[in-house]
Amino acid sequence: MKHLLAICSSALIALSACFSGSSSTKVETAEITSDGYQYTIQDVRNLQDFLLTRPTEEDLTGKPYDMNGDDRWDVFDLCLMKREVLKDMNIESDNDTLVVYFSRTGNTEKIAEYLIELTDADSYVIEAAVPYTDDDIKYQDDNCRANKEQNDKTVRPEIADPISSIDSYDTIFLGYPIWWGQEPRIIDTFLESYDFSEKTVIPFCTSGSSGIGTSEENISELVTIGNQLEGRRFPASATKDDVKAWYDTLPLNKGNEDMKLKISVNGTELTATLADSTAAKELAEKLKSEPVTLTLNEYGGFEKVGKLPWSLTKTDESIVTEAGDIMLYQGNQMTIFYNSNSWSYTKLGHIDNITGEELAKLFGEGNITVTLSY
Ligand SMILES: Cc1cc2nc3c(=O)[nH]c(=O)nc-3n(C[C@H](O)[C@H](O)[C@H](O)COP(=O)(O)O)c2cc1C
Repeated sequence: MKHLLAICSSALIALSACFSGSSSTKVETAEITSDGYQYTIQDVRNLQDFLLTRPTEEDLTGKPYDMNGDDRWDVFDLCLMKREVLKDMNIESDNDTLVVYFSRTGNTEKIAEYLIELTDADSYVIEAAVPYTDDDIKYQDDNCRANKEQNDKTVRPEIADPISSIDSYDTIFLGYPIWWGQEPRIIDTFLESYDFSEKTVIPFCTSGSSGIGTSEENISELVTIGNQLEGRRFPASATKDDVKAWYDTLPLNKGNEDMKLKISVNGTELTATLADSTAAKELAEKLKSEPVTLTLNEYGGFEKVGKLPWSLTKTDESIVTEAGDIMLYQGNQMTIFYNSNSWSYTKLGHIDNITGEELAKLFGEGNITVTLSY
């Protein structure tokens, strides 16, 4: 999903503010079904342009772009569409984090969406082969399907469209509603379908009022998990800030958190956080052995760009850059943005704590010399 969200990641930041809860994004899709529709890269571009309120190359009337069926087009649909396109193109994700969730009435989905935005993770929605109807989850009725399933630990509801593999992911956030103090049985179906022995699994859930219950123990007893982190229950009213506050406490990637790319320019030392890309890792490895000095040329009033001494692995995606972004361009050039541009790049990192104006002032006009170290 680096691919999936990477295409959206910079857009997400720009877009999330404009689209969360915005009624202006509502699009009537009542007559539209995405069944059998084959999405293309152009669809991804169209939806991205739509979300960025840019002109699109096609008339989008009638397009089945409401991927998650919530009656609006938003960044989440863009992510799902990108995933579908990549799946068809047989392109492997290079993201190592997956957010998996089951949500019957949307509460857990909302938390999952916040997590996806925060982590840039890939996502996978568990859906039942036989969907849960409203009657199925009428827990006041002892005989409703959900209650019967929860009363029988051996039931394994079939999953509609199982994810083919989770091998490429190291970290899996697993979300579900609490049903009678436990994880829904379909979560057990999911867990028993894959090998988690070398994965980090982080449960999260929503409930009416009770806590995470016995779901964490159930999960750890059901399958072998490499590293199961303490889970978190959220109320339906939880905000993105609540989810972020929790996420920031998680012991994930702590080993690398102090490792910063250092950029010395005109006597000022900047630090940058590396992106989660192969190219960024390769850059760090190269710089570990010795710093490198580059000449970056002014280009377009938004970037300084120059040739690297090596080629790095290119995983280009359509990106709307932000000031401070460091990108790999054409596999062997590094670009630092002090303003925004929309193009295909591979993410290398982002300069910490600096505005576009400050960067532009520091860089000045014309070409600059920078020294990179790690
Ligand atoms: C069958 C069933 C059992 C439930 N059991 C509990 C429970 O034990 N404790 C609780 O606080 N909420 C319980 N709830 C409420 C859900 O956990 C809550 O509404 C949750 O946020 C729904 O998540 P979703 O919208 O992602 O499906 C139950 C709901 C259902 C349908």
